[in-house]
Amino acid sequence: MTTTAWEPIHGKPYRSVGYRPPRLPAQETLATAAALRARMEQRRTVRQFSPDPVPTQAVRDAIAVAATAPSGAHQQPWTFVHVTDPQVRRRIREAAEEEERDAYAGRLGEEWLEALRPLGTDEVKTHLTDAPHLVVVFQQRYYLAPDGTTRKHYYVNESVGIAVGMLLTALHLSGLAALVHTPSPMRFLSELLHRPVNEKAFAVIPIGYPSPDCQVPDLTRKSLDQVMVEIGDA
Ligand SMILES: Cc1cc2nc3c(=O)[nH]c(=O)nc-3n(C[C@H](O)[C@H](O)[C@H](O)COP(=O)(O)O)c2cc1C
Repeated sequence: MTTTAWEPIHGKPYRSVGYRPPRLPAQETLATAAALRARMEQRRTVRQFSPDPVPTQAVRDAIAVAATAPSGAHQQPWTFVHVTDPQVRRRIREAAEEEERDAYAGRLGEEWLEALRPLGTDEVKTHLTDAPHLVVVFQQRYYLAPDGTTRKHYYVNESVGIAVGMLLTALHLSGLAALVHTPSPMRFLSELLHRPVNEKAFAVIPIGYPSPDCQVPDLTRKSLDQVMVEIGDA
């Protein structure tokens, strides 16, 4: 698939190309899956970052991985704004903390605050300035052509969520730590980052290395048998 000269395929006729990825021997599939599972079980959300630089190309590559995600009608309804400028990160932090002060002071409501309590989060968002990279993910709620015409996008939330999952996986497997931060509300991000009207912020993802004194909440994940239902005897 070409990565240049992209245009929407809406209304174009069906065309196909052969797809013959190499089939791995079963042993290799099993070993790869088990190794991947073990690596992914080590992933944790990090909220305390070291300001140490990380290889920028690794972040770009992870965004490129995210952009291979499947999407409703192949509309790829995402924009990844990669921010390293310290001034812009500081402005994002100031605006996020302003929103979060209200949120934690009561706007979230007691049930939401109770859900957050085990995570130890509060309105101070040092990660937004300590992490050397931020990727702000925007969802394109509809397609906006250069001439101003619009087209509906389908399954935007699902598509962007899958892309973010792939981004987090790529970052983790590259040895980088990340956080999905969803300040509420997120309108300030569109203004600060000058995004067009069809785009809505989905999450801010600080990326870097954990600080030497990084702590994470002591959480337990559901076991496989608690999240998986199997039907059939394969
Ligand atoms: C959609 C989504 C929104 C999240 N929003 C926030 C957030 O605003 N602030 C935060 O500190 N963590 C946020 N998180 C991170 C979760 O709290 C974290 O993934 C969860 O506690 C499990 O921890 P783990 O990622 O270390 O397994 C968010 C995660 C997701 C998937």
